[in-house]
Amino acid sequence: MEEFITKEAKGALSKTRSSANQPILLSHVQYEQLSRINTYDDELNRVLGGGLVPGSVVLIGGEPGIGKSTLLLQVALAMKGQKILYVTGEESQSQVKMRADRLGNAASELYLLAETGLSEIIAAVDSMQPALVIIDSIQTLQSRQIESSPGSVSQVRECTNEIIKSAKTSGVPFILIGHITKEGAIAGPKVLEHMVDTVLQFEGDRHLTYRILRAQKNRFGSDAELGIYEMRGNGLREVSNPSEILISQREGDLSGVAIGATMEGNRSLLIEVQALVTPASYGTPQRSSTGFDGRRLNMLLAVLEKKMGLRLSSQDVFLNIAGGMRVEDPAIDLAVCAAIASSFHDMAILPKSCFAGEIGLGGEVRAVNKIENRIAEAHKLGFEEIYFSKFSEKGLNKSKFPMRWFTSSRLDQVFINLF
Ligand code: TYD
Ligand code: MG
Repeated sequence: MEEFITKEAKGALSKTRSSANQPILLSHVQYEQLSRINTYDDELNRVLGGGLVPGSVVLIGGEPGIGKSTLLLQVALAMKGQKILYVTGEESQSQVKMRADRLGNAASELYLLAETGLSEIIAAVDSMQPALVIIDSIQTLQSRQIESSPGSVSQVRECTNEIIKSAKTSGVPFILIGHITKEGAIAGPKVLEHMVDTVLQFEGDRHLTYRILRAQKNRFGSDAELGIYEMRGNGLREVSNPSEILISQREGDLSGVAIGATMEGNRSLLIEVQALVTPASYGTPQRSSTGFDGRRLNMLLAVLEKKMGLRLSSQDVFLNIAGGMRVEDPAIDLAVCAAIASSFHDMAILPKSCFAGEIGLGGEVRAVNKIENRIAEAHKLGFEEIYFSKFSEKGLNKSKFPMRWFTSSRLDQVFINLF
């Protein structure tokens, strides 16, 4: 790896020695309540933990074409009456203008800067003192301190470093757009993610219209929050009731479908799981999973085979989470197992039933967190029956949610009730 020690770095060493900070008693440390800047985008505000923190640096990553530039231009346009600096290193000013016209939301104080030189950008920030700086993208920036080309590890690191310094001294927040590689990592060094305050991922299936904004790291809020958008002809629309889109419309009873009552951050979502189990025509049966961890699927298949007696080793199994979602909440396990068993038996599950439970290796149904929120959301959306762990039941007020509860500690009891 290339390493350069600049003059500045040597100077900084001697400076810290002469004016070193003194240790201070924790109880004497004072801090101000963090004020937040409203981005006028409820989904983004939530994922940030209540808005942008002044002087913070947020990195937002995503595959090309997913809608990063659209999202941030839209935010810039919505923050009316505030000076916003949008630095475009990838597209020309007229391209950005064209997109802004398409979004149809003209702001009076949005400034565009088509520039990739880091010192020029920092100078513009210093003279303008905007309320927010958006950099599109970090991979196009170039610092003259470093000889390597834009997008290289050392350039990206150096530019981010300088931006963080500028943000901390001026109090101006920066949002950096970063491209991600095929493997899903934000290009440039992993250290980039450690340097910035917040890392967000913008993801989704490009062929579907839904986009998910997810916090990967957040110094100023929960990293479990989630924002959902729909890409339309005139920009991204915030989706405030996502369960409606995550449950597909269906007519009549279909086997292989089960609804999971999941939590993403503080938000409860009802998500549809679809499974297809068919006899394998070739030697090794196929296992394919979209939106759900493939290894976890294999584990659940092994439990179903060994503990429930489903002969799945001679079957192809396809699993899909509707709406292009990727689910990490283990409470979806029970819905996954129910969907697979439903397809295997070719017996439909009642459409007004949903599931919340983690499955252990012994086929036990484990308790999950925030069961009350899950039940409340299911009830709100008109579900009539919910299956969950017996161990989640304690302390729950049943009269609050007039729906059928089926609680059990074992998967086989759930199945006996279902099929
Ligand atoms: P873009 O924001 O350029 O993606 P990124 O910056 O992540 O590379 O979005 C590109 C896609 O979004 C492009 O295929 C066109 C589509 N799009 C819409 O569907 N509606 C819109 O209003 C806009 C501006 C873009
Ligand atoms: Mg872009």
